[in-house]
Amino acid sequence: MDVSHLLLTSVLFLLPFTAQVSAQQPGCSVSNNKPSVEENNPPGYTVTTINVEAGFTATIDPSSPDGSYFTIEGSQLQLVKSVDYENDTVLIVYVACQDTSGQKDILEIIVTIINLNDNTPVFKQTNLTITVPEDTKVNATIIAREDLSASDADLDIIYYELNSTVQDTTNYFAIKGINNPEIYLQKQLDYDKLKSTTLILYARDRPVGSNEITHTATATINIIIEQADTKPPWFLPCSFIDEDKSICISSPYSGRVNISEMSKEPLTLDPGPIYAKDPDYTINEKIVYSIVDGNVDNTFSVDADTGNLTMNKVATSPDSYLLQVMATQVNNKQKYSVVSVEIKVINKSDYAPNFKFSTYTGIVSVGAAPKSLVFQVEDPSSPLMIKAEDYDFPDKFNPNIEYYIKNSTDFVATRDGLILTNVNLLSPETVIMEAVAKDTVSLQEASTIIVVEIVFTADETTSDKLYTAQDMGILGGILAALLLITLIFLGLMIYKHYGNTVKFLINKKFSKDSPESYENKAYNQDEHPDLSAKEQKSSENGGITQLQQPSFFLSSSKEEIDGLPKTSTASTVVFDLEEKEEEENEEEEVKEDTKHEKEVKSILKTDRNEGDHGYKAVWFKTDVDPDAGEKVEVIKDNASDYDDDSDQDLQENEEEEDDKDDHHRGPGAAEVMINMSRTATENTIMV
Ligand SMILES: *[C@@H]1O[C@H](CO)[C@@H](O)[C@H](O)[C@H]1NC(C)=O
Ligand SMILES: *[C@@H]1O[C@H](CO)[C@@H](O)[C@H](O)[C@H]1NC(C)=O
Ligand SMILES: *[C@@H]1O[C@H](CO)[C@@H](O)[C@H](O)[C@H]1NC(C)=O
Ligand SMILES: *[C@@H]1O[C@H](CO)[C@@H](O)[C@H](O)[C@H]1NC(C)=O
Ligand SMILES: *[C@@H]1O[C@H](CO)[C@@H](O)[C@H](O)[C@H]1NC(C)=O
Ligand SMILES: *[C@@H]1O[C@H](CO)[C@@H](O)[C@H](O)[C@H]1NC(C)=O
Ligand SMILES: *[C@@H]1O[C@H](CO)[C@@H](O)[C@H](O)[C@H]1NC(C)=O
Ligand SMILES: *[C@@H]1O[C@H](CO)[C@@H](O)[C@H](O)[C@H]1NC(C)=O
Repeated sequence: MDVSHLLLTSVLFLLPFTAQVSAQQPGCSVSNNKPSVEENNPPGYTVTTINVEAGFTATIDPSSPDGSYFTIEGSQLQLVKSVDYENDTVLIVYVACQDTSGQKDILEIIVTIINLNDNTPVFKQTNLTITVPEDTKVNATIIAREDLSASDADLDIIYYELNSTVQDTTNYFAIKGINNPEIYLQKQLDYDKLKSTTLILYARDRPVGSNEITHTATATINIIIEQADTKPPWFLPCSFIDEDKSICISSPYSGRVNISEMSKEPLTLDPGPIYAKDPDYTINEKIVYSIVDGNVDNTFSVDADTGNLTMNKVATSPDSYLLQVMATQVNNKQKYSVVSVEIKVINKSDYAPNFKFSTYTGIVSVGAAPKSLVFQVEDPSSPLMIKAEDYDFPDKFNPNIEYYIKNSTDFVATRDGLILTNVNLLSPETVIMEAVAKDTVSLQEASTIIVVEIVFTADETTSDKLYTAQDMGILGGILAALLLITLIFLGLMIYKHYGNTVKFLINKKFSKDSPESYENKAYNQDEHPDLSAKEQKSSENGGITQLQQPSFFLSSSKEEIDGLPKTSTASTVVFDLEEKEEEENEEEEVKEDTKHEKEVKSILKTDRNEGDHGYKAVWFKTDVDPDAGEKVEVIKDNASDYDDDSDQDLQENEEEEDDKDDHHRGPGAAEVMINMSRTATENTIMV
């Protein structure tokens, strides 16, 4: 290079001289002395054509900086070899033109090399393997940008794309941007779902979809996921409650101990021994067990290492224990699970249930409907009943025994030991099956064989007789018609006799819908809402006296009503009509139908008629001596009543709630009540 520089300066030094010469007559010329040539040209590529004057010859001047690249073929300046832009961006060549007289021109040609996209991006590493912990946080960088950036000799901008070779795992990892290949975690890892994956990182020197020539490099990234200690222990067996199987819940364990008896062995539990496991199985942290609750009197111990449950002392009461057993990871006590263990305390069972017979034989007819009884072969009118005895019980009857059929679904056993068909048995055959009696407390069992003969039977008197659906339909129709007629008749009767009551009830129903009505409160307090149906009639012969005054029934407490029939022979029922204004909150009561009032008057008397025992009456207790020989009942008159004019009352009631005084009452009834309360504090019914 130093040499060429020297030459260059000497050439420059010579220039004024050559210019002088050329000013006269240049020997050579080119149309463009700064041509451009694309890199990677084929050897022999013509850069330009030199116009050489007659008598001149053109040669590559040895002082040319890049003379070695060029040659002159005839009048053409050619490149002898391929040029790489990445090595040479510009080539300078001097063409010397000389004639025979010794005149020499120097023609400078500067060739610019045009860069082409001829290089592929290059990754530093094309095969990376990295281990990622399962509990890596989302957004954390998995591989840094420097480790993944590709370089390109053309200095192109690189476009990256990340793909996964494993289906459906692409979304866990992503690159930061199309020009930033840093890989980060996009979604929480789960070792149970993804244990390893392979990512392919593409580096392109043109964007995806470009029409230009694009060079692509790939890097393979192997990711190995490492299980982390993320889950607490699971008691086994357990069932998953979520779709991705990350939470597993166990059912309680259960066991039983005999009351007042010590068990030396670890208790046998259902569904199995207490056992918990670290679901992060590649880590499989050690687990310890403890009882954290329910261990009354410290009756039980759990082995910290094995989980075996043993007794410290006997259970003295029949109450069950509900233990809470905790399994904790030794390395992290916050990773724990708790399970319930129910220990039932049962009476010691020395004897298992025992079937009286080793074989039972039954009979059932072909075509018997499901749930038909199987009968005894010896006595086809008696149902077949299997029975297991238990000598732990004085009467050998253990109420905790349940029966079931072990190996047939065609029959079922009831709790009582009756055998029923379970399906429609279509063909005659003999079925042999095993029946089991299980003591549901001690879990002891006994079994027996049942032989059932399925036979054709013509006996219509057996309970197996089936009526056809048609028979049933006809019967049902007749019954329905009768019922309808009866209902219509009943309805007419009720309307005739209870029309007023019905009206009242309808009114009452509507009044209940009115939120401001304080009648509603009154009715809510009504202890005898069915009262209105109790139409009272007084019998002319006095044989039966039913009070017409509704307040009797309304005011009576239940006990007093119950007491009434008992007192029917003991003559008297006394009404305590001492009025508390709060209690007589039923205006309807007072606004008694005048017709009823008349009837009331017919049995209301001012004094007792002690002579006539067949006659019943109500009188005011002005003259009753409570200590008299007859049985006397005093009934508080705090009751409610109904009234046909309840609409009117309702309006009145709405006027002023607090004012529940006498003036609210209907004229006739009010009179009665006031009279009763003023003239007598009690009235009496004599039966
Ligand atoms: C570019 O230069 C490097 C060394 O500088 C050389 O190895 C390579 O062959 C050159 N490329 C061309 C096309 O001449
Ligand atoms: C990449 O490396 C892993 C181990 O590091 C090797 O098993 C695998 O074959 C390599 N892949 C390629 C394409 O070289
Ligand atoms: C991860 O980064 C994105 C974008 O910055 C953000 O929206 C998201 O909340 C981040 N997620 C977590 C779990 O930090
Ligand atoms: C990347 O994967 C997607 C879908 O799996 C596919 O459509 C796409 O062609 C892949 N890209 C490359 C460069 O292989
Ligand atoms: C309770 O008593 C029965 C009958 O003796 C015995 O089989 C059983 O093992 C006892 N249970 C325990 C927990 O000791
Ligand atoms: C724990 O109990 C199981 C049976 O329940 C038994 O196989 C095992 O040997 C017991 N372990 C110890 C230490 O007693
Ligand atoms: C257990 O036995 C006692 C008498 O020994 C009895 O009173 C009690 O009812 C029995 N309990 C059960 C559940 O059978
Ligand atoms: C049920 O079991 C008993 C004995 O265990 C056997 O004799 C009988 O054939 C079995 N019945 C069926 C229907 O499998």
